[in-house]
Amino acid sequence: MRLRPDTALTFDDVLLVPRRSSIHSRQAVNTRTCFSRRIETSIPIVSSNMDTVTESAMAMAMARSGGIGVIHRFMTIERQAAEVARVKRAESFMVEHPFSLPGKATVSEARAKLTEHGIGGLLVTSSDGALIGLVSTRDLIFEEDSDRPVSEVMTPRERLITVEAGASLEAARATLHNHRLEKLPVVDNAGRLLGLITAQDIIKMEQSPDATKDERGRLRVVAAVGVRPSDVERAEACVKAGVDALVVDIAHGHSDSAINMVRALKERFPQTDVIGGNVATADGVRDLAEAGADAVKVGVGAGSICITRVVTGFGVPQLTAVADCAEAGHALGVPIIADGGIRTAGDLTKAMAAGASTVMIGSLLAGTDESPGATVVRDGRRVKVVRGMASLTANIDRQEVELRREVDPEDWERVVPEGVEAMVPMRGPVKDILHQLVGGLRSGLSYAGASTIEELWRNAEFIRITSAGKRESGAHDVEVR
Ligand code: XMP
Repeated sequence: MRLRPDTALTFDDVLLVPRRSSIHSRQAVNTRTCFSRRIETSIPIVSSNMDTVTESAMAMAMARSGGIGVIHRFMTIERQAAEVARVKRAESFMVEHPFSLPGKATVSEARAKLTEHGIGGLLVTSSDGALIGLVSTRDLIFEEDSDRPVSEVMTPRERLITVEAGASLEAARATLHNHRLEKLPVVDNAGRLLGLITAQDIIKMEQSPDATKDERGRLRVVAAVGVRPSDVERAEACVKAGVDALVVDIAHGHSDSAINMVRALKERFPQTDVIGGNVATADGVRDLAEAGADAVKVGVGAGSICITRVVTGFGVPQLTAVADCAEAGHALGVPIIADGGIRTAGDLTKAMAAGASTVMIGSLLAGTDESPGATVVRDGRRVKVVRGMASLTANIDRQEVELRREVDPEDWERVVPEGVEAMVPMRGPVKDILHQLVGGLRSGLSYAGASTIEELWRNAEFIRITSAGKRESGAHDVEVR
């Protein structure tokens, strides 16, 4: 037995000491950070891989706001891959399967299709997929013969400006501008139609420059997998669906099974970032990094719905865990994701100041419009359910997905839960919560005299406080309305 001499701390045990600052406005700070070695985000917030927090709707909202979401794994492989694909299809600077019709289609069929999809133009293709023209509303307005084939009224291929696959956003933008076009078909070198770039989509992209997107303008998304052999198949399906990174999701991430899984995934999918976790020590970070992890998730028992510490006696208070792990992570160039226990913008700032590159949030995002699950009314309040992924019902549901049948109620007693099920108030759209959290962080950066996250790491000085200091820190001696 060994008793460590140092005291471990968590968020409420400390405050950050204000220091001289030349930051004149909260807008003058930059919250850009690394989620993993190759994936950057403009805000340091990740939605948790819990079945009451992140599916495609949450992942899209997180990426649009500049963060990123991790789709949970407690569903069939097919469904998880479909959730990933839904995020990847949601936005792109090139529409991959644009609406088209054959040259022999009639003017009235073209009109019907334009109205059905609410669009202004349709591409015309031959039976082997070659682009032969473009028919737009302008070609049809005064056409009196509605049985005429579109091939006679369209703008033919030789008068169309196109680009080849792989054209950059800048090149496409310049072509649209130089020729005063709204639509730019994308073709391969055999002239087959591959996609369509529209001025509208480029404008939309430019209006949200902070969204987390890949090089093709698609929203980024991460998926969680377990450590069983069948999870390699799960990872494969998610990679095929276009996932940007994989999280190896296991409660005790400093274990041979987690380390081997990280290594196996890195060997099999070298182009995809792999995140290991969860750990609570610097040794855990080093071992996962050595296996190839591109980021490490830190937090054992810190989450709002976790009872791991009560049931097993194990865990490290989160601020100390993050600080220890970040020291190792920074030395190795591996970003740290502080996972669990974030209740306020102040907690977010403290986790970042302790060295995290991002924080992962569960319950705080579980009551949003975008989280999975229905809203129910309890005692006149609108609430949603949040549950630990090691809670009793999550355990049973997981077994049912795996067995593809109901679990016998007698077997329920064999489960030893390490999480609870709870209610959280409805909080509206996720972007509103992120706005508040990031606003607090921006303010925090200015108190630290830091214009970037890296500067915050360097400048941060924590001070321990007593219970009296903690009482003084919240609203006190007034009746809060
Ligand atoms: P918050 O505090 O943001 O924490 O709700 C979310 C994180 O909690 C972890 N998690 C669990 N930990 N038992 C645990 O010990 C569980 O059943 C459980 N479910 C989730 C997870 O790391 C999540 O991101």
